[in-house]
Amino acid sequence: MAHALDRHLALIGFMGAGKSTLGIVVALHLGRRFVDLDRELERAMEESIPELFEKRGEAEFRVLEREATLRALTNERPAVLALGGGAVETPAIRKTLREHALTVLVEVDAETAWTRVGGSARPLARDEASFHELFGRREPLYAETADAVARDVDGLVLAAAGIVVEEGAFGRLAELLPSGEHELVGDGNVLGIHRPPLEVPVHALPEGEEAKSLGAIETVWRGLRLDRDGTIVALGGGCATDAAGFVAANYLRGVCWVAVPTTLVGQVDAAIGGKTAINLPEGKNLVGAFHWPELTVIDPALLQTLPPEVRRAGMAEVVKTGLLVGEPLWELADAELIRRCAAYKAAVCLRDPHERGERAVLNLGHTFAHALEAAGGYGEVSHGDAVALGLLAALRLSDLDTTVVEEVLVPKPVRVDRDAAWAALGRDKKGREGKPRLVLLDAPGKPVTGVELPDDQVRAALNELIAD
Ligand SMILES: NC(=O)c1ccc[n+]([C@@H]2O[C@H](COP(=O)([O-])OP(=O)(O)OC[C@H]3O[C@@H](n4cnc5c(N)ncnc54)[C@H](O)[C@@H]3O)[C@@H](O)[C@H]2O)c1
Ligand SMILES: [Zn+2]
Repeated sequence: MAHALDRHLALIGFMGAGKSTLGIVVALHLGRRFVDLDRELERAMEESIPELFEKRGEAEFRVLEREATLRALTNERPAVLALGGGAVETPAIRKTLREHALTVLVEVDAETAWTRVGGSARPLARDEASFHELFGRREPLYAETADAVARDVDGLVLAAAGIVVEEGAFGRLAELLPSGEHELVGDGNVLGIHRPPLEVPVHALPEGEEAKSLGAIETVWRGLRLDRDGTIVALGGGCATDAAGFVAANYLRGVCWVAVPTTLVGQVDAAIGGKTAINLPEGKNLVGAFHWPELTVIDPALLQTLPPEVRRAGMAEVVKTGLLVGEPLWELADAELIRRCAAYKAAVCLRDPHERGERAVLNLGHTFAHALEAAGGYGEVSHGDAVALGLLAALRLSDLDTTVVEEVLVPKPVRVDRDAAWAALGRDKKGREGKPRLVLLDAPGKPVTGVELPDDQVRAALNELIAD
């Protein structure tokens, strides 16, 4: 199982790994209940774990643990569960984990674990030699049971979303893919630069927005030979993954897909969250589907070949994310920058997979951006440049310092028709009765959605983005 969109996220691992501490925070990030099974058991039995061990012995404790764990795992409402350190020794628990959860091993080494819990009241952490022996015995069981491995909150959120961020992941794509037949649908230009190491049928999409046309995807649909159990592997920037994801959402009424994003926009934004779409002559992204990729494989090394202007477009989304998080993520080196941004978007989308509410925060800067793009007839103003300007407007309307956007993105006012831009702003599909609903910031890290401001104020902010 590759993601936890509609199932439990179960944390396993040795005592002292931090399952409970991390679990609480991850549950908050995912908007889910947190169930700490050791604590549940203590509450139900009205005795502490050491007391239970002492009075009943390990064998009886495992039976009680099994009942409590199976009950939690078969509860329908997806939660974040922290399992007891020894729970994986029970075969019925391992089997139920496979059926009902995405299981993530919270990694820790034996020495660290011992420094955290050694000599404590925990019944199995009293003697260092037997602690290490137990660690060695359980290690293979954890490895066998886990679908993914993580060490921190972002790692757990990424695992929950089915995202692997790893330098070199592209080279071992074949071993990461789900089993069954695969066909590759990729940006023709990217296929010439980064050929995935897979022996599978290849369908080349036209480069850029052309990929997101009915004609291009019809060609792919007609060429596919996959059956219902097959998987489409999507390779390229946001255009290719939007198009290939849409192909997968509809082919045979929906087959699995794996996203392999190759642009910064793709790695921090487009390939995350399950939105797929194509364009119509009437507008961008007008036809699409929510179809969460089974797996998203992000290899930051693929970005080394990006043309500078394509990279800059991605930085606009990075700055957006940094403003939403309230941290200068744009200052980080690629691998960490991507990990942080991807984890932020993944958490928002896991909380609101169908964009019923909260996901609107991701639109920071985008209402103005879309208006500028539309006024330029899509082609005049690139999305990245438009977002940079949109962020400027959002910061100004929030009464916040704009230095970051100015220094990192260096936005320049664009030459588009002012009336056309104003009209497009009123038509924004996220607006209400011709009035745009803006995402602004109370402070960096504190977004507010659904803000309606007086027309003259909004229009003045828009005008500032437009050159004479
Ligand atoms: N689904 C979503 O949630 C979502 C979010 C954001 C954006 N998008 C969509 O993403 C699209 C934009 O994606 P994009 O900015 O990645 O552009 P893109 O897919 O057009 O790629 C930009 C250019 O870079 C080239 N390229 C890609 N990877 C490369 C590499 N590793 N080395 C060299 N060249 C490479 C491509 O061939 C293309 O020419 C838009 O259509 C937008 O609507 C979707
Ligand atoms: Zn964007």
